Amino acid sequence: MSVWSEPTRQRATEIIGRYPKRRSAVMPLLYLAMAEEGRLSEEGMREVAEWCGITPAQVQAVASFYTMYKTEPVGRYLVSCCTSISCMLLGADEVLGAIEDQAGVPDGETDKEGHLSVEHVECLGACGGAVAVQVNYELIEGVTPDRARALVDWLRNARPDVVNGDEMQELFGTRRSFEWAIHEEDGAVGPYPAFQPLGTVGR
Ligand code: FES
Repeated sequence: MSVWSEPTRQRATEIIGRYPKRRSAVMPLLYLAMAEEGRLSEEGMREVAEWCGITPAQVQAVASFYTMYKTEPVGRYLVSCCTSISCMLLGADEVLGAIEDQAGVPDGETDKEGHLSVEHVECLGACGGAVAVQVNYELIEGVTPDRARALVDWLRNARPDVVNGDEMQELFGTRRSFEWAIHEEDGAVGPYPAFQPLGTVGR
C-alpha cells in the first residue's frame, strides 16, 4: 500500500514509463520521495524500492552515495557554495562566510523558518566561473561576497516562487565560464533537481 499522495503516485508512474526497466527510475523517484515529505525518510526509500522492484538496501546504497538526497529537511531555498580548489583560490571561503553571516545560518544548517539552507559543496563543474554558487541547483558564476549577501537578501525579501539561473546570474553573478548552449527557462521550484529537467524533456 503506497503512502504517497495521488499526484506523487501519478508522477512516479509517468517517470517509470520513461525507462525500459523500472529500476532505472530510482534516482528521480528518490527526488519525488524527498518532495513528498520534505526529506528522504526510511519509509520514502522503502516506497521507492517497491516502485522500482528492488530492495530497500539497494535504494539506500544509491541514496547514501549522493549528497543531494537529504535525509534532514532543507529550506525552501538551498544555497550551495563550491569550496573546491578553483573557487577556493578565488575566495570561496569569503563567499561562504558572507552567505552564512547574511543568512544567520551556519554551513550545513537551515534557519528556523525553513526558508534557507546553507551548505558548502564540492566542484560544481563551473571552475572557469569561480566562485560558483547554486540556489536549488540553479547556477550562478563569479559570485563575490557582496553579491552573495545581496543574493541572500533577495531570497529573504523577494521570496521568488521559481529561481532561475540566468536571472540570478544577471543579478548576482559576474564572470561566466562560458555561455551554456542550452538555457533552462523554467528554473527551479524547490531543492529537488530532477523535476525541472524532467519537465523539459522532449521540448
Ligand atoms: S572548483 Fe568550484 S566549480 Fe569547480
